[in-house]
Amino acid sequence: MTSRVALVTGGTGGIGTAICRKLSSLGHRVATNYRDRDRAMAWQEKMRAEGLDILLVPGDVRYGDQAQAMVDEVTGRLGPVDILINNAGITRDTTFHKMEADQWSEVIDTNLTSVFNMTRPVIGGMRERRWGRIVQISSINGQKGQYGQANYAAAKAGMHGFTISLAQENAKFGITVNTVSPGYIGTDMVMAVPEDIRNKIVAQIPTGRLGTPDDIAYAVAFFVPDEAAWITGANLSANGGQYMGW
Ligand code: CAA
Repeated sequence: MTSRVALVTGGTGGIGTAICRKLSSLGHRVATNYRDRDRAMAWQEKMRAEGLDILLVPGDVRYGDQAQAMVDEVTGRLGPVDILINNAGITRDTTFHKMEADQWSEVIDTNLTSVFNMTRPVIGGMRERRWGRIVQISSINGQKGQYGQANYAAAKAGMHGFTISLAQENAKFGITVNTVSPGYIGTDMVMAVPEDIRNKIVAQIPTGRLGTPDDIAYAVAFFVPDEAAWITGANLSANGGQYMGW
């Protein structure tokens, strides 16, 4: 297998860590961004203890200039980015009639505008090299909507709209663009949902459990190898059967 350079946004978070681990274990050279330096350094040590050397670059995906700087640093230190995983994301859950403008814009900027910011600096090189893999980490709630998540569902649905447009524009350049839509995974983000509400959600999952970050990393890795060259514009649900749109 060819070792390539992968940039995973939000790689120090719950799902992001599993994606970094997986791509690294497949032999790729992996980088991720951070905002909190101390937290990131502690994370890197933990990864090193597992035998994984993951490059950390500072930067906030909400800002185009910082996204460009991240890509420049990764390119300088590891080589051109061939694999981009747009994973960084936040929630600001509240019913829409109570939603403030900043709860809307923080989620749209972090979850959706970030995808523009990160993809724009890598797409030209991928087209020139005639190889690329871009994966959006969307959500079940972008597919089905969710009470209290008008902002998040709009951003997550938007990510797949981006996927299917970019997939068409870049198919002839050896670049695939796909989406993974995780269901409820046992990360800090989901554990922040009040327990009674969370229990009701788990009761709707046919597998009878929350997903694990590894469940999602497996789905992401599916899109990456050369053999996946004909799979583009797909939206892969990994949700324990909670939502089965087609
Ligand atoms: N459908 C219909 N009615 C609902 C409902 C639902 N899903 N959820 C709540 N309601 C009703 C309640 O029963 C309540 O009704 P009454 O007033 O008649 O009793 C009313 O709506 C108010 O509900 P809350 O008390 O919950 O309202 P709140 O303002 O206190 O809380 C909320 C709103 C913060 C959105 C809360 O409902 C919540 O946290 N919901 C979970 C949101 C969620 O799933 N977030 C996912 C986070 S993880 C993630 O996003 C990862 C991923 O990709 C999956």
